[in-house]
Amino acid sequence: MSEKRIVILISGRGSNMEAIFRAKLPLRIAAVISNNPDAPGLQTARTRKLATAVVDQRQFSDREEFDAALMAAIDSYHPDLVVLAGFMRILGTACVTHYKGRMLNIHPSLLPAFPGLHTHRRALATGARIHGCTVHFVTPELDYGPIVIQAAVPVLADDTEDTLAERVLSEEHRIYPQALRWFAEDRLVLTADDRVDVGQARTASGTLLAPPLDA
Ligand code: GAR
Repeated sequence: MSEKRIVILISGRGSNMEAIFRAKLPLRIAAVISNNPDAPGLQTARTRKLATAVVDQRQFSDREEFDAALMAAIDSYHPDLVVLAGFMRILGTACVTHYKGRMLNIHPSLLPAFPGLHTHRRALATGARIHGCTVHFVTPELDYGPIVIQAAVPVLADDTEDTLAERVLSEEHRIYPQALRWFAEDRLVLTADDRVDVGQARTASGTLLAPPLDA
């Protein structure tokens, strides 16, 4: 079986991209593409000798034109999978449909809680005791597609947005490489009712209680 190819889309720091790179997955990172020419992650990608490209959203007057240019850039690398890793631009329906079943995203909340922005701030504001992150297939509805894997972390009494974000981000760096490894191994199957079967996945065990029960 030939090695599958992925294209990673970033908008900023690129720490998830870096985690994917470091995981040494049996996948070829064909390119890293950003909508933001100043994304620090682009420099990281260049340091790693990955091919990079920029489709600068400021150069397009409407969403359709930008999406078309982005799709052309992505498709020129012939990816099997498009990996959104901190890509902060909403893609139109035509674009998402073009990559149906071939595009993953990571979102910093336990979806379907807190789609959209400022997830950590909103989790703190609601008094949630458990928060986390989700890797899911992308569908036209924002932050809603079939879920591959989630990680949960406790929200601590003295958490700030930054400390909570940091705790969640560490888990992002674990679950995204895992999801991609499953993809590389042909273990992600989208079912007819829009769920994800992870072939041979181990059964989850243990319960995260926050705060824990009295001993
Ligand atoms: C990550 O926390 C990712 O989950 C989030 O942006 C951050 C990017 O960090 N993505 C979204 O909010 C998408 N809705 P990174 O550039 O260091 O990977």
